[in-house]
Amino acid sequence: MAEAQRRMRVPDLKEMKKRGERIAMLTAYDATMARLIDRAGIDVILVGDSVGMVVMGYETTLPVTLDAMVHHTKAVCRGVKRALVVTDMPFLSFQISASEAVRNAGRILQEGGATAVKIEGGRPVIEAVSRLVDIGIPVMGHLGLTPQSVHRLGGYHRQARTEEDAQLLFEDARALEAAGAFSIVLESIPEDVARRVTDELSIPTIGIGAGPYCDGQVLVSYDIFGLYEGQVPPFVKQYARLGDQMRAAAEAYAEDVRQGRFPAPAVRATGAAR
Ligand code: KIV
Repeated sequence: MAEAQRRMRVPDLKEMKKRGERIAMLTAYDATMARLIDRAGIDVILVGDSVGMVVMGYETTLPVTLDAMVHHTKAVCRGVKRALVVTDMPFLSFQISASEAVRNAGRILQEGGATAVKIEGGRPVIEAVSRLVDIGIPVMGHLGLTPQSVHRLGGYHRQARTEEDAQLLFEDARALEAAGAFSIVLESIPEDVARRVTDELSIPTIGIGAGPYCDGQVLVSYDIFGLYEGQVPPFVKQYARLGDQMRAAAEAYAEDVRQGRFPAPAVRATGAAR
């Protein structure tokens, strides 16, 4: 009998960094996608609030609610056997107070079944991060382009481009590590800034549009599979064009139905029915 695969745990990521092993992370929002990428050996599955854009059709992640994140986390967890499941805390679920952050992160673990939460931001959210870690809820940070701040940033632009901004990002990264975050996503920042943060911290960095020197990489699954019709960020590598294949399959099916080719006329079967 095949040996059951051991589940990824939070401390494994730091061990991987120490051993120089890169961490592969992808998003998923439902059980089917989660099952597929888990069986492919992805280490960390992020139930990202990008669900609001790629699944729900919103223009930003801001309308995504805690209930929606809990709902999608439950679905993902049903499909996963090995990967570490991390769920995004949505807009306004952690910024108001540390105690609200505890209540909301608690729902993500207790009802959703995730192992950890991800929180956007640095020093302004440190109290919430520290409180969650203190009571046993693992937190992944997220710096650089933080999509929940899209309106303040004025769009989805590259961050930390000046030395001054890079210094602010270093301070945020150090504060997150000191508060007990187990890993930090670095989104859309120059690769030399990501490299310096990665070299300085003992916790792993996971890059998205942050160059090759992070300890791991994350991408939105709909982007790499070619499922999302919207614009794909320039740093994304598309490994498949499943959207085109699905559309062609749906067109073929519609044509078969219209032409009376599906269902095929019943054949008087001699063999066993399924
Ligand atoms: O919501 C999300 O998918 C994310 C990734 C882009 C890191 O936060």
